Amino acid sequence: MSEFTYRNGMLHAEGVSVVDLAERFGTPLYIYSRTHLIRQYQALAEAMKPIAPQFYFAIKSNSNLAVIETLGAQGAGADVVSGGELFRALRAGISADRIVFAGVGKTVAEIDYALSEQIRFFTVESEEELTRISERAVAAGCVGRIAIRVNPDVDPHTHKYTSTGKAENKFGVDLSRAEKAYEQALQLPGIEVAGLHMHLGSPIMTPAPYAEALEKVRPLCERLKKEVETFRHLDIGGGLGISYRPEQAPLDPRDFASAVLPALHGLGLAVGMEPGRFYTGNAGILVTRVEYVKQNPFKKFVIVDAAMNDLLRPPLYEAHHEIVAVQQTDEQIFGDVVGPVCESADFMAQNRELPAVESGNLLAILSAGAYGFVMASNYNARGRAAEVMVSGDRVEEVRARETWEELVQGERIPTWE
Ligand SMILES: Cc1ncc(COP(=O)(O)O)c(C=O)c1O
Repeated sequence: MSEFTYRNGMLHAEGVSVVDLAERFGTPLYIYSRTHLIRQYQALAEAMKPIAPQFYFAIKSNSNLAVIETLGAQGAGADVVSGGELFRALRAGISADRIVFAGVGKTVAEIDYALSEQIRFFTVESEEELTRISERAVAAGCVGRIAIRVNPDVDPHTHKYTSTGKAENKFGVDLSRAEKAYEQALQLPGIEVAGLHMHLGSPIMTPAPYAEALEKVRPLCERLKKEVETFRHLDIGGGLGISYRPEQAPLDPRDFASAVLPALHGLGLAVGMEPGRFYTGNAGILVTRVEYVKQNPFKKFVIVDAAMNDLLRPPLYEAHHEIVAVQQTDEQIFGDVVGPVCESADFMAQNRELPAVESGNLLAILSAGAYGFVMASNYNARGRAAEVMVSGDRVEEVRARETWEELVQGERIPTWE
């Protein structure tokens, strides 16, 4: 169920008119629904209740402090992939013992930071990383808890850029080497073997890949559980799919639960999950104003004030986002929605039936709450959009629009003297 609905022909975010928000905060504007975030959290928690997993919100999907805080207040921890994300999670009030740290390229500084905060565990992506965490933990006189990210070589049936659990992907340690990696971990000083991790990719639209991967890693988990006293966690990653098109069914948490619970029951391990998009994707829209409608000899271009620097998913993944008029109309035109950035890749929709709009009208790009603002850049010296959060009739600006002054902050012209 969406929290972005029409009332008297005008799009609303929960109880608030999107036109009013665009006038008050300007465009392009990201709008997040707090109710949707909470509802998604609760739906998954309810479905998985028989094993009560710890949810680690994958903050890479949307790392605004208000979003992290909303989910943290529901009980979520955080899955982070950089020192910056760890900083954000802590700043938003997530306690370190509910934070896990993944990523193939953790630097010494990032490892030191996470060790000093005593996070729950590192999701280790290579044997070399194990050695590095061991050395840093010994140097700091502490223990680094780790879960090896096992790559189970399962096809998640998603875009090649968002598949992470196939043998050819850079992530994790393949299943055939995992046992050796655990042996290495058990010998290393300063390391505590806390669990096993996997993440297959995203968005995953059926539970089958999870069930297949669990079948593959289960024997290893059982063995480690028996042999290693500290081995207590199984983190099954994120990637749960949402609907990006009206006709597309999202991954139903109840179907997901039915498929994975049999494999998880009886393992005796604390299960972790790392949903990102499932919480945030349909919690957000990107509102943009039409600047021009241009007809060239081949097609029509609706030129808007949002661009690929605001929402990269269409050019990066050929991702589909529904685009609707903020003021409802039955009339349609056919063409592309493009931004002002100087790239032909700067599009939000191509060759589509679109609402008939003209200069000054507002459009809403749907399902933009995940991997939207977080991928924004300053390309073409464009300031990043403002972000607001709505809860019922209330609105809070949760990130101010970036100013031109902020664009040049930190830069200086050398004097060469
Ligand atoms: C390790 C890990 N966990 C969780 C996620 C979250 O994926 P999603 O937002 O699709 O749930 C990702 C996404 O890249 C990931 O790499």
